[in-house]
Amino acid sequence: KRVVLAYSGGLDTSVILKWLQQTYNCEVVTFTADLGQGEELEPARKKAEMAGVKPEHIFIDDLKEEFVKDYVFPMMRANALYEGLYLLGTSIARPLIAKRQIEIARQVNADAVSHGATGKGNDQVRFELGYYALNPDIKVIAPWREWDLTSRERLIEFAEKNQIPIAKDKRGEAPFSTDANLLHTSSEGKVLEDPWQEVPDYVYSRTVNPEDAPDQPETITIDFERGDGVALNGQAMSPATLLAALNDLGRKHGIGRLDLVENRFVGMKSRGMYETPGGTIYHLAHRGIEQITLDRGAAHLKDELAPRYAELIYNGFWFAPEREMLQAAIDYSQEKVSGTVRLKLYKGSVIVTGRKSPNTLYSEKVVTFEDDQGAYDQRDAAGFIKLNALRLRLLGRRDG
Ligand code: ARG
Ligand code: SIN
Repeated sequence: KRVVLAYSGGLDTSVILKWLQQTYNCEVVTFTADLGQGEELEPARKKAEMAGVKPEHIFIDDLKEEFVKDYVFPMMRANALYEGLYLLGTSIARPLIAKRQIEIARQVNADAVSHGATGKGNDQVRFELGYYALNPDIKVIAPWREWDLTSRERLIEFAEKNQIPIAKDKRGEAPFSTDANLLHTSSEGKVLEDPWQEVPDYVYSRTVNPEDAPDQPETITIDFERGDGVALNGQAMSPATLLAALNDLGRKHGIGRLDLVENRFVGMKSRGMYETPGGTIYHLAHRGIEQITLDRGAAHLKDELAPRYAELIYNGFWFAPEREMLQAAIDYSQEKVSGTVRLKLYKGSVIVTGRKSPNTLYSEKVVTFEDDQGAYDQRDAAGFIKLNALRLRLLGRRDG
Protein backbone atom coordinates (compact mmCIF):
# COMPACT_ATOMS: atom_id res chain seq x y z
CA LYS A 1 0.00 0.00 0.00
CA ARG A 2 1.69 3.12 -1.25
CA VAL A 3 0.29 6.51 -2.18
CA VAL A 4 1.89 9.44 -3.98
CA LEU A 5 0.72 12.74 -2.52
CA ALA A 6 0.91 16.10 -4.30
CA TYR A 7 2.60 17.85 -1.40
CA SER A 8 3.27 21.57 -1.08
CA GLY A 9 4.59 21.42 2.47
CA GLY A 10 1.86 23.80 3.60
CA LEU A 11 -0.55 23.19 6.44
CA ASP A 12 -3.27 21.40 4.46
CA THR A 13 -1.07 18.89 2.67
CA SER A 14 0.95 18.33 5.86
CA VAL A 15 -2.27 17.38 7.64
CA ILE A 16 -3.20 15.17 4.68
CA LEU A 17 0.17 13.43 4.86
CA LYS A 18 -0.37 12.51 8.53
CA TRP A 19 -4.02 11.66 7.93
CA LEU A 20 -3.12 9.27 5.09
CA GLN A 21 -0.55 7.51 7.24
CA GLN A 22 -3.05 7.11 10.06
CA THR A 23 -6.24 6.42 8.14
CA TYR A 24 -4.92 4.17 5.40
CA ASN A 25 -1.94 2.88 7.31
CA CYS A 26 0.01 3.31 4.11
CA GLU A 27 3.41 4.44 3.00
CA VAL A 28 3.22 8.01 1.72
CA VAL A 29 5.47 9.23 -1.09
CA THR A 30 5.55 13.01 -1.41
CA PHE A 31 5.87 14.91 -4.64
CA THR A 32 6.56 18.63 -4.61
CA ALA A 33 6.59 20.43 -7.94
CA ASP A 34 8.62 23.55 -8.49
CA LEU A 35 6.46 25.48 -10.93
CA GLY A 36 8.03 28.79 -10.05
CA GLN A 37 5.77 29.54 -7.12
CA GLY A 38 8.67 31.49 -5.65
CA GLU A 39 8.87 29.51 -2.44
CA GLU A 40 11.74 27.64 -0.86
CA LEU A 41 11.04 23.95 -1.45
CA GLU A 42 13.70 22.45 0.81
CA PRO A 43 11.52 23.03 3.90
CA ALA A 44 9.01 20.65 2.29
CA ARG A 45 11.71 17.96 2.29
CA LYS A 46 12.44 18.56 5.98
CA LYS A 47 8.76 18.42 6.87
CA ALA A 48 8.24 15.22 4.90
CA GLU A 49 11.26 13.63 6.59
CA MET A 50 9.95 14.67 10.00
CA ALA A 51 6.64 13.03 9.15
CA GLY A 52 8.51 9.78 8.54
CA VAL A 53 8.68 9.77 4.75
CA LYS A 54 11.74 7.85 3.53
CA PRO A 55 14.34 10.06 1.84
CA GLU A 56 14.04 8.07 -1.39
CA HIS A 57 10.30 8.68 -1.29
CA ILE A 58 10.59 12.46 -1.28
CA PHE A 59 10.39 13.89 -4.79
CA ILE A 60 11.06 17.57 -5.43
CA ASP A 61 11.16 18.35 -9.15
CA ASP A 62 11.90 21.51 -11.02
CA LEU A 63 9.22 21.57 -13.72
CA LYS A 64 9.46 25.25 -14.61
CA GLU A 65 10.74 24.89 -18.17
CA GLU A 66 8.39 22.03 -18.98
CA PHE A 67 5.50 23.99 -17.51
CA VAL A 68 6.04 27.06 -19.66
CA LYS A 69 7.23 25.30 -22.83
CA ASP A 70 4.70 22.47 -23.01
CA TYR A 71 1.68 23.91 -21.19
CA VAL A 72 1.67 27.71 -20.90
CA PHE A 73 3.00 28.50 -24.39
CA PRO A 74 0.71 26.05 -26.23
CA MET A 75 -2.22 27.57 -24.35
CA MET A 76 -1.07 31.11 -25.17
CA ARG A 77 -0.93 30.20 -28.88
CA ALA A 78 -4.72 29.89 -28.61
CA ASN A 79 -5.14 33.25 -26.81
CA ALA A 80 -7.19 31.22 -24.33
CA LEU A 81 -9.27 33.12 -21.79
CA TYR A 82 -11.94 31.54 -19.60
CA GLU A 83 -15.12 33.60 -19.53
CA GLY A 84 -13.34 36.30 -21.45
CA LEU A 85 -10.91 37.28 -18.71
CA TYR A 86 -9.16 34.50 -16.81
CA LEU A 87 -5.75 33.46 -18.15
CA LEU A 88 -6.10 29.98 -16.59
CA GLY A 89 -2.98 30.12 -14.42
CA THR A 90 -4.07 27.38 -12.02
CA SER A 91 -5.98 25.31 -14.55
CA ILE A 92 -2.97 24.84 -16.84
CA ALA A 93 -0.65 23.68 -14.05
CA ARG A 94 -2.80 20.80 -12.81
CA PRO A 95 -2.34 18.42 -15.77
CA LEU A 96 1.45 18.65 -15.46
CA ILE A 97 1.34 17.90 -11.73
CA ALA A 98 -1.00 14.97 -12.40
CA LYS A 99 1.27 13.62 -15.13
CA ARG A 100 4.39 13.72 -12.97
CA GLN A 101 2.49 12.17 -10.04
CA ILE A 102 1.44 9.22 -12.17
CA GLU A 103 5.03 8.80 -13.42
CA ILE A 104 6.29 8.72 -9.84
CA ALA A 105 3.55 6.26 -8.85
CA ARG A 106 4.79 3.94 -11.57
CA GLN A 107 8.39 4.38 -10.52
CA VAL A 108 7.82 3.61 -6.83
CA ASN A 109 5.11 1.01 -7.42
CA ALA A 110 2.35 2.95 -5.74
CA ASP A 111 -1.26 1.98 -6.33
CA ALA A 112 -2.82 5.28 -5.30
CA VAL A 113 -2.41 9.05 -5.62
CA SER A 114 -3.75 11.84 -3.45
CA HIS A 115 -4.17 15.63 -3.59
CA GLY A 116 -5.22 18.51 -1.36
CA ALA A 117 -8.01 19.99 -3.44
CA THR A 118 -11.42 20.33 -1.80
CA GLY A 119 -14.59 18.63 -2.95
CA LYS A 120 -16.08 21.98 -3.95
CA GLY A 121 -13.74 23.13 -6.64
CA ASN A 122 -12.23 22.67 -10.06
CA ASP A 123 -8.83 21.41 -9.01
CA GLN A 124 -10.10 18.02 -7.82
CA VAL A 125 -11.59 17.49 -11.28
CA ARG A 126 -8.43 18.57 -13.09
CA PHE A 127 -6.11 16.39 -11.00
CA GLU A 128 -8.29 13.34 -11.21
CA LEU A 129 -9.16 13.57 -14.92
CA GLY A 130 -5.39 13.74 -15.46
CA TYR A 131 -4.74 10.72 -13.23
CA TYR A 132 -7.40 8.56 -14.86
CA ALA A 133 -6.39 9.57 -18.40
CA LEU A 134 -2.80 8.52 -17.74
CA ASN A 135 -3.50 5.48 -15.56
CA PRO A 136 -7.05 4.14 -15.86
CA ASP A 137 -6.60 1.84 -12.85
CA ILE A 138 -5.09 4.25 -10.36
CA LYS A 139 -6.80 4.66 -6.98
CA VAL A 140 -7.54 8.23 -5.97
CA ILE A 141 -7.73 9.47 -2.40
CA ALA A 142 -9.22 12.94 -1.95
CA PRO A 143 -9.09 13.55 1.83
CA TRP A 144 -11.20 16.71 1.72
CA ARG A 145 -14.10 14.61 0.44
CA GLU A 146 -13.62 11.92 3.08
CA TRP A 147 -12.45 13.23 6.38
CA ASP A 148 -14.36 14.94 9.18
CA LEU A 149 -11.92 17.85 9.45
CA THR A 150 -14.62 20.00 7.97
CA SER A 151 -13.66 23.30 9.52
CA ARG A 152 -10.49 25.29 9.85
CA GLU A 153 -10.69 24.82 13.59
CA ARG A 154 -10.70 21.03 13.42
CA LEU A 155 -7.92 21.02 10.89
CA ILE A 156 -5.74 23.12 13.19
CA GLU A 157 -6.69 20.92 16.14
CA PHE A 158 -5.51 17.87 14.19
CA ALA A 159 -2.29 19.68 13.25
CA GLU A 160 -1.57 20.59 16.88
CA LYS A 161 -2.23 17.04 18.06
CA ASN A 162 0.23 15.72 15.49
CA GLN A 163 3.02 18.29 15.96
CA ILE A 164 2.46 19.81 12.54
CA PRO A 165 3.82 23.37 12.51
CA ILE A 166 1.17 25.98 11.79
CA ALA A 167 2.41 29.09 10.03
CA LYS A 168 0.59 31.95 11.68
CA ASP A 169 -1.03 34.31 9.21
CA LYS A 170 0.52 37.72 9.38
CA ARG A 171 -2.96 39.14 8.93
CA GLY A 172 -6.05 37.81 10.54
CA GLU A 173 -8.10 37.66 7.41
CA ALA A 174 -5.76 36.19 4.77
CA PRO A 175 -7.55 34.39 1.92
CA PHE A 176 -8.35 30.79 2.60
CA SER A 177 -6.96 29.33 -0.60
CA THR A 178 -4.05 30.46 -2.73
CA ASP A 179 -2.17 28.88 -5.58
CA ALA A 180 0.96 30.18 -7.27
CA ASN A 181 3.23 29.30 -10.17
CA LEU A 182 5.28 31.11 -12.83
CA LEU A 183 2.10 32.16 -14.63
CA HIS A 184 -0.05 33.46 -11.80
CA THR A 185 -1.10 33.67 -8.19
CA SER A 186 -4.72 33.10 -7.26
CA SER A 187 -6.56 33.82 -4.03
CA GLU A 188 -10.01 32.70 -2.99
CA GLY A 189 -12.09 32.52 0.16
CA LYS A 190 -12.41 34.42 3.46
CA VAL A 191 -12.37 38.18 2.80
CA LEU A 192 -12.97 37.57 -0.90
CA GLU A 193 -16.19 35.61 -0.45
CA ASP A 194 -18.36 38.74 -0.57
CA PRO A 195 -18.21 39.78 -4.25
CA TRP A 196 -19.15 43.36 -3.38
CA GLN A 197 -16.22 43.77 -0.98
CA GLU A 198 -13.16 45.24 -2.68
CA VAL A 199 -10.02 43.07 -2.56
CA PRO A 200 -7.85 44.42 0.28
CA ASP A 201 -4.34 45.55 -0.64
CA TYR A 202 -2.60 42.84 1.40
CA VAL A 203 -4.05 40.08 -0.79
CA TYR A 204 -1.89 41.17 -3.73
CA SER A 205 1.52 39.56 -3.61
CA ARG A 206 3.25 39.93 -6.95
CA THR A 207 2.26 43.26 -8.47
CA VAL A 208 2.59 46.78 -7.16
CA ASN A 209 -0.59 48.78 -7.00
CA PRO A 210 -0.92 50.42 -10.45
CA GLU A 211 -1.54 53.70 -8.64
CA ASP A 212 1.95 53.42 -7.13
CA ALA A 213 3.68 52.19 -10.30
CA PRO A 214 6.40 54.32 -11.95
CA ASP A 215 5.24 57.54 -13.62
CA GLN A 216 7.55 56.77 -16.53
CA PRO A 217 6.26 54.24 -19.08
CA GLU A 218 8.64 51.46 -20.14
CA THR A 219 8.94 50.19 -23.69
CA ILE A 220 9.94 46.60 -24.43
CA THR A 221 10.05 44.25 -27.40
CA ILE A 222 9.21 40.56 -27.56
CA ASP A 223 10.31 38.34 -30.47
CA PHE A 224 8.11 35.46 -31.55
CA GLU A 225 8.94 32.38 -33.57
CA ARG A 226 6.06 30.23 -34.79
CA GLY A 227 3.75 31.56 -32.14
CA ASP A 228 6.13 31.28 -29.18
CA GLY A 229 8.08 34.03 -27.45
CA VAL A 230 11.84 33.59 -27.88
CA ALA A 231 13.44 36.89 -26.88
CA LEU A 232 12.95 39.98 -24.72
CA ASN A 233 14.49 43.27 -25.89
CA GLY A 234 16.46 41.30 -28.47
CA GLN A 235 17.93 38.93 -25.93
CA ALA A 236 17.16 35.24 -26.54
CA MET A 237 15.55 33.47 -23.57
CA SER A 238 14.15 30.08 -22.70
CA PRO A 239 10.38 29.95 -22.18
CA ALA A 240 10.55 29.98 -18.36
CA THR A 241 13.25 32.67 -18.33
CA LEU A 242 11.19 34.86 -20.64
CA LEU A 243 8.05 34.49 -18.54
CA ALA A 244 10.00 35.21 -15.36
CA ALA A 245 11.49 38.35 -16.90
CA LEU A 246 8.02 39.50 -18.00
CA ASN A 247 6.78 38.83 -14.48
CA ASP A 248 9.39 41.24 -13.12
CA LEU A 249 8.29 43.92 -15.57
CA GLY A 250 4.63 43.28 -14.87
CA ARG A 251 5.17 43.46 -11.12
CA LYS A 252 6.93 46.80 -11.40
CA HIS A 253 4.19 48.35 -13.56
CA GLY A 254 1.23 46.85 -11.71
CA ILE A 255 0.07 44.75 -14.66
CA GLY A 256 -2.27 41.74 -14.68
CA ARG A 257 -4.56 42.15 -11.68
CA LEU A 258 -7.99 40.59 -12.08
CA ASP A 259 -10.96 40.49 -9.72
CA LEU A 260 -13.39 37.92 -11.12
CA VAL A 261 -16.57 36.03 -10.34
CA GLU A 262 -16.43 32.87 -12.42
CA ASN A 263 -18.46 29.71 -12.97
CA ARG A 264 -16.80 26.62 -11.52
CA PHE A 265 -17.22 23.33 -13.39
CA VAL A 266 -19.10 21.84 -10.42
CA GLY A 267 -21.79 24.48 -10.89
CA MET A 268 -21.26 27.20 -8.31
CA LYS A 269 -20.01 30.72 -8.81
CA SER A 270 -16.84 31.73 -7.03
CA ARG A 271 -15.01 35.00 -6.60
CA GLY A 272 -11.26 35.08 -6.99
CA MET A 273 -8.40 37.48 -7.39
CA TYR A 274 -5.66 36.75 -9.88
CA GLU A 275 -2.30 38.28 -10.60
CA THR A 276 -0.85 37.30 -13.95
CA PRO A 277 1.80 39.96 -14.61
CA GLY A 278 4.00 38.36 -17.29
CA GLY A 279 1.16 36.34 -18.77
CA THR A 280 -0.92 39.47 -19.35
CA ILE A 281 1.93 41.14 -21.25
CA TYR A 282 2.65 37.96 -23.21
CA HIS A 283 -1.01 37.41 -24.14
CA LEU A 284 -1.27 40.91 -25.62
CA ALA A 285 2.07 40.63 -27.39
CA HIS A 286 0.98 37.35 -28.98
CA ARG A 287 -2.18 38.98 -30.25
CA GLY A 288 -0.03 41.80 -31.59
CA ILE A 289 2.12 39.53 -33.73
CA GLU A 290 -0.92 37.57 -34.93
CA GLN A 291 -2.49 40.83 -36.13
CA ILE A 292 -0.03 41.07 -39.02
CA THR A 293 0.84 37.42 -39.62
CA LEU A 294 -2.52 35.60 -39.52
CA ASP A 295 -4.99 35.60 -42.35
CA ARG A 296 -8.45 36.87 -41.39
CA GLY A 297 -10.16 33.51 -41.92
CA ALA A 298 -7.60 31.69 -39.80
CA ALA A 299 -7.68 34.41 -37.14
CA HIS A 300 -11.45 34.47 -36.85
CA LEU A 301 -11.70 30.68 -36.72
CA LYS A 302 -9.11 30.73 -33.94
CA ASP A 303 -11.18 33.28 -32.07
CA GLU A 304 -14.19 30.99 -32.31
CA LEU A 305 -12.25 27.97 -31.10
CA ALA A 306 -10.50 29.79 -28.25
CA PRO A 307 -13.43 29.86 -25.80
CA ARG A 308 -14.05 26.14 -26.37
CA TYR A 309 -10.39 25.40 -25.88
CA ALA A 310 -10.26 27.57 -22.74
CA GLU A 311 -13.27 25.79 -21.29
CA LEU A 312 -11.64 22.40 -21.88
CA ILE A 313 -8.56 23.51 -19.97
CA TYR A 314 -10.64 25.07 -17.20
CA ASN A 315 -12.71 21.91 -16.82
CA GLY A 316 -9.64 19.67 -16.71
CA PHE A 317 -9.75 18.01 -20.11
CA TRP A 318 -6.14 18.71 -21.10
CA PHE A 319 -5.53 15.03 -21.89
CA ALA A 320 -8.76 14.62 -23.88
CA PRO A 321 -8.75 14.05 -27.65
CA GLU A 322 -10.85 17.13 -28.37
CA ARG A 323 -8.24 19.34 -26.67
CA GLU A 324 -5.51 17.69 -28.73
CA MET A 325 -7.52 18.16 -31.93
CA LEU A 326 -7.96 21.85 -31.21
CA GLN A 327 -4.29 22.14 -30.26
CA ALA A 328 -3.26 20.63 -33.60
CA ALA A 329 -5.35 23.22 -35.46
CA ILE A 330 -4.04 26.06 -33.32
CA ASP A 331 -0.42 24.95 -33.69
CA TYR A 332 -0.86 24.68 -37.47
CA SER A 333 -2.05 28.29 -37.54
CA GLN A 334 1.17 29.47 -35.90
CA GLU A 335 3.53 28.43 -38.72
CA LYS A 336 4.04 32.06 -39.85
CA VAL A 337 3.51 33.78 -36.49
CA SER A 338 7.04 35.14 -36.19
CA GLY A 339 8.35 38.64 -35.72
CA THR A 340 8.68 41.39 -33.16
CA VAL A 341 6.14 43.22 -31.04
CA ARG A 342 6.83 46.46 -29.21
CA LEU A 343 4.83 47.24 -26.09
CA LYS A 344 4.48 50.06 -23.63
CA LEU A 345 3.95 49.27 -19.95
CA TYR A 346 2.42 51.99 -17.85
CA LYS A 347 0.53 51.97 -14.56
CA GLY A 348 -1.30 48.70 -14.97
CA SER A 349 -1.75 48.84 -18.72
CA VAL A 350 -0.05 47.14 -21.65
CA ILE A 351 -0.31 48.75 -25.07
CA VAL A 352 1.02 47.29 -28.29
CA THR A 353 2.83 50.18 -29.99
CA GLY A 354 4.41 48.36 -32.93
CA ARG A 355 4.71 45.04 -34.74
CA LYS A 356 6.85 43.79 -37.63
CA SER A 357 7.42 40.45 -39.28
CA PRO A 358 9.14 38.95 -42.32
CA ASN A 359 5.81 37.13 -42.82
CA THR A 360 3.58 40.14 -42.58
CA LEU A 361 0.32 40.20 -44.55
CA TYR A 362 -0.05 43.92 -43.95
CA SER A 363 0.34 45.83 -47.19
CA GLU A 364 0.81 49.53 -46.82
CA LYS A 365 0.66 49.81 -50.58
CA VAL A 366 -2.83 48.33 -50.66
CA VAL A 367 -4.25 50.04 -47.58
CA THR A 368 -2.87 53.53 -48.06
CA PHE A 369 -5.25 56.47 -48.43
CA GLU A 370 -2.59 58.12 -50.57
CA ASP A 371 -1.86 57.25 -54.19
CA ASP A 372 -1.68 53.42 -54.28
CA GLN A 373 -0.32 53.30 -57.84
CA GLY A 374 -2.88 50.74 -58.97
CA ALA A 375 -2.35 48.28 -56.11
CA TYR A 376 -6.08 48.30 -55.43
CA ASP A 377 -8.90 49.19 -57.79
CA GLN A 378 -11.65 50.99 -55.87
CA ARG A 379 -14.11 50.22 -58.68
CA ASP A 380 -14.01 46.52 -57.68
CA ALA A 381 -15.75 47.42 -54.43
CA ALA A 382 -18.95 48.46 -56.22
CA GLY A 383 -19.69 44.90 -57.44
CA PHE A 384 -18.56 43.47 -54.12
CA ILE A 385 -21.11 45.58 -52.29
CA LYS A 386 -23.83 45.14 -54.93
CA LEU A 387 -23.76 41.34 -54.64
CA ASN A 388 -23.56 41.42 -50.86
CA ALA A 389 -26.56 43.73 -50.93
CA LEU A 390 -28.58 41.54 -53.32
CA ARG A 391 -30.51 39.59 -50.71
CA LEU A 392 -31.00 42.66 -48.54
CA ARG A 393 -32.57 44.39 -51.56
CA LEU A 394 -34.79 41.40 -52.38
CA LEU A 395 -35.92 41.36 -48.74
CA GLY A 396 -36.46 45.10 -48.83
CA ARG A 397 -38.61 44.85 -51.93
CA ARG A 398 -40.74 42.14 -50.35
CA ASP A 399 -41.04 43.48 -46.79
CA GLY A 400 -40.00 47.09 -46.98
N1 ARG B 1 -10.59 29.44 -9.61
C1 ARG B 1 -9.32 29.23 -10.22
C2 ARG B 1 -9.37 28.03 -11.11
O1 ARG B 1 -10.26 27.23 -10.97
C3 ARG B 1 -8.23 29.14 -9.20
C4 ARG B 1 -8.24 27.94 -8.35
C5 ARG B 1 -7.21 28.10 -7.30
N2 ARG B 1 -6.87 26.88 -6.66
C6 ARG B 1 -6.44 26.84 -5.40
N3 ARG B 1 -6.13 25.69 -4.93
N4 ARG B 1 -6.35 27.91 -4.69
O2 ARG B 1 -8.52 27.83 -11.94
C1 SIN C 1 -10.11 23.87 -4.09
O1 SIN C 1 -11.28 23.49 -4.19
O2 SIN C 1 -9.27 23.18 -3.50
C2 SIN C 1 -9.69 25.19 -4.66
C3 SIN C 1 -10.69 25.81 -5.54
C4 SIN C 1 -10.89 25.13 -6.86
O3 SIN C 1 -10.26 24.12 -7.13
O4 SIN C 1 -11.74 25.59 -7.66
